[in-house]
Amino acid sequence: MKQSEFKKRRKQLMQRVGKGNIALIGSASVRTRNRDVDYPFRQDSDFYYLTGFNEPDALAVFIPGREQGEYILFCREFDEKKALWEGAHAGLEGATKHYAADDSFPIDDVDDILSGMLENKNKVYYPMGRDSDLDHSLLEWIKHIRSQSRSGVIAPGELASIEPILHEMRLFKSAAELELMRHAANVTAQAHVRAMQSCHAGRYEYQIEADIVHHFMQAGLRAVAYPSIVAGGKNACTLHYTDNKDKLKNGDLLLIDAGAECDHYAADITRTFPVSGKFTTAQAQLYQLVLDAQFAAIEQIKPNVPWNLAHDASVEVMTKGLVKLGILKGNVKKLIKDEKYKQFYMHRIGHWLGMDVHDVGDYKLNQEWRKLQPGMALTIEPGLYIPENCKTVEEKWRGIGIRIEDDVLVTKTGYEILTTGVPKTIADIEALMARKTGG
Ligand code: GLY
Ligand code: MN
Ligand code: MN
Repeated sequence: MKQSEFKKRRKQLMQRVGKGNIALIGSASVRTRNRDVDYPFRQDSDFYYLTGFNEPDALAVFIPGREQGEYILFCREFDEKKALWEGAHAGLEGATKHYAADDSFPIDDVDDILSGMLENKNKVYYPMGRDSDLDHSLLEWIKHIRSQSRSGVIAPGELASIEPILHEMRLFKSAAELELMRHAANVTAQAHVRAMQSCHAGRYEYQIEADIVHHFMQAGLRAVAYPSIVAGGKNACTLHYTDNKDKLKNGDLLLIDAGAECDHYAADITRTFPVSGKFTTAQAQLYQLVLDAQFAAIEQIKPNVPWNLAHDASVEVMTKGLVKLGILKGNVKKLIKDEKYKQFYMHRIGHWLGMDVHDVGDYKLNQEWRKLQPGMALTIEPGLYIPENCKTVEEKWRGIGIRIEDDVLVTKTGYEILTTGVPKTIADIEALMARKTGG
């Protein structure tokens, strides 16, 4: 991502924050796993969105109209010993030179410097309630200013969440963001193809996960957007199954929900396919129903259509189909009204997609489902999960879990599916698996 993109975002943020006000946003912190070992560091998406700065222990400050510079970055000072043990870091000079901060200060001095910056500001925008250290520090800085009120300084009187401003910006993807999302989607699609090709009975779920992650990394994408779900047979009925520890069996389906991250942008694909390469009749019937529901939902995606229509379309197809297969019994309208489908389809159709896999952005505005607009990206992922112990359905359906998930961009005229690179019709999946190269 070019610096000019971050600059554009900062400008937009500052316009919305307005003169006389100030905005703060902190980086993510390193979390210790044990002793000298840390969890992998992943920058806070809001912080990265505005700064492109990929270090912990940093705080970005935005002061629209400040003469000495509007964008201030507090970060770690360059330390040679730290560089030797832990690798490169920008230091104060790097913050201005490479990350276009107007001013930079040591993070260790933030308590001394920041209260001065807050003086005489009206409103402080920050990620309220997200980082208890920042919440606490902010109140301490304000207390400090108040204690000096006899010298004429005024403490900010209003605290506001920065999220409505920032998350509304993040909801609409720019051309530069879409380039990264397309790349993440393409690499992820290839990895799913590879998994279909390398799948066979006797392999373990984690070995398929390894094939997927191997492909991501070989393609240059080091991070996963979320822990991969590789769920054979009944494991697919556990929505967040990530144990990935069981042996694959012929006759079972395999559900894979995995996505790569490209420069902090996520892909999120699910495919479900038979371990043997050939669907049984019962599996094919349920699979085709989920696929029909997905097509019906995707067809709803266009500008000015409320977000919930795609979900409602999927519910209608699913309920009708479940009645036809004898899994639900009764009048379709009444079953929908009574939400009977929820026994087997218990999640919503999808979510916004972006820097976070479940991305930011409101789904309702003034308590109404918001209307889709060009530049929004979302997933469409209907699923059916028939519990193994579900006594109300014929045995042949039990223990089957199916989800089909694609990433979709709202365009000016309708939609674009970003994840077409991996097959999803029964015929295409079986054809691909018949040609498989082995794993
Ligand atoms: N991979 C998480 C989801 O599909 O929502
Ligand atoms: Mn998803
Ligand atoms: Mn997913």
